[in-house]
Amino acid sequence: MKTEIVPQKKGFAKAVELINSGELVAFSTETVYGLGADFSNSKAVAKIFEAKGRPQDNPLIVHLAKAEDAELVAIDIPLEYYALAKKFMPGPLTIVLKKRSNVPDVVTAGGSTVAVRVPKNKTVRNLIALSHPLAAPSANRSKHISPTTAEHVALDLDGSVSLILDGGECKVGIESTVLDLTSKNPTILRPGAVTADMLLTVLSSVSEKHSTKIKVAKSPGMKYEHYSPICETVMGMTINSSRDAYDKAQSEGKKPVYVCLHNAKIKFGHRDTVVLGKTIKDYARNFYGALRYAETIYDYIIIEALDESGLGNSVMNRATKSAGGKFV
Ligand code: TXA
Ligand code: MG
Repeated sequence: MKTEIVPQKKGFAKAVELINSGELVAFSTETVYGLGADFSNSKAVAKIFEAKGRPQDNPLIVHLAKAEDAELVAIDIPLEYYALAKKFMPGPLTIVLKKRSNVPDVVTAGGSTVAVRVPKNKTVRNLIALSHPLAAPSANRSKHISPTTAEHVALDLDGSVSLILDGGECKVGIESTVLDLTSKNPTILRPGAVTADMLLTVLSSVSEKHSTKIKVAKSPGMKYEHYSPICETVMGMTINSSRDAYDKAQSEGKKPVYVCLHNAKIKFGHRDTVVLGKTIKDYARNFYGALRYAETIYDYIIIEALDESGLGNSVMNRATKSAGGKFV
């Protein structure tokens, strides 16, 4: 199969045709690129798992054209869903609801819940409206770094998907917040750009599961290795420890690099860095692209650790996973 990257408007009609005939299409969202199939077609959805090398027990998010379409795939939808939808949809928020019986097991990994989200990209919402809601994970090979450009998708999935709709670089850069509304208290299963504080403007309480600390995560995906560069990667907890680790790696003949914000770069002297920008938002947006770049040139990556509050908590969730929990 030949993989083509096509500007999203140009590839739109072809994408509708492919989805309707049970094939896969990769598309851009505000968070990361997704690899979509008609959620109601089990055979089509099975192709996603095959293309990614994804474990079967990890359920997929169903992407909707509009928030009310949750009714197509979920039942007993609580009022909180509609209140959250009003404020955060379309946007980087995924909500876990009780699943409707028409949703194939392959989408939900046999579970009784279904995750839904409405992406911001208007062309993609039109595509969904004209075809079907799309079951879609991030469009990377399982365990590798999530894709934030069409080229990243092509690098990971060349030959496994025929059409990649190019919608440019993803603006948020890390995956959506996953919020479970089926548990007793609304619970964040995966932190993202919609933070607990933002959710608390609508909800009276929000629990945060630090999924790195629990053995059997309720979001099954969180128990797997994730977002990993192909080379050794560690979190640099302070500038000094990062500098020491860099120098030690270099003295051992490795080619180290420090992935960091602008301020930290200045303190890093002559050493090699990949700069993520100036703000936490820049950090989130550029993080995966920086790792993909770094892994092609270097063989030892040190990632700058940030304060874990607000969006900082969400980016550190991804960063510590990229580093497999290792730190210096
Ligand atoms: O931003 C995003 O969410 C991107 C874009 C493409 O929409 N998608 C994405 O999908 O990150 P994926 O498959 O890479 O991650 C989905 C996460 C996994 O950790 C999965 O276990 C969890 O959501 N998930 C999916 N359905 C679930 C459910 N019914 N209950 C709990 N967790 C669920
Ligand atoms: Mg993923």
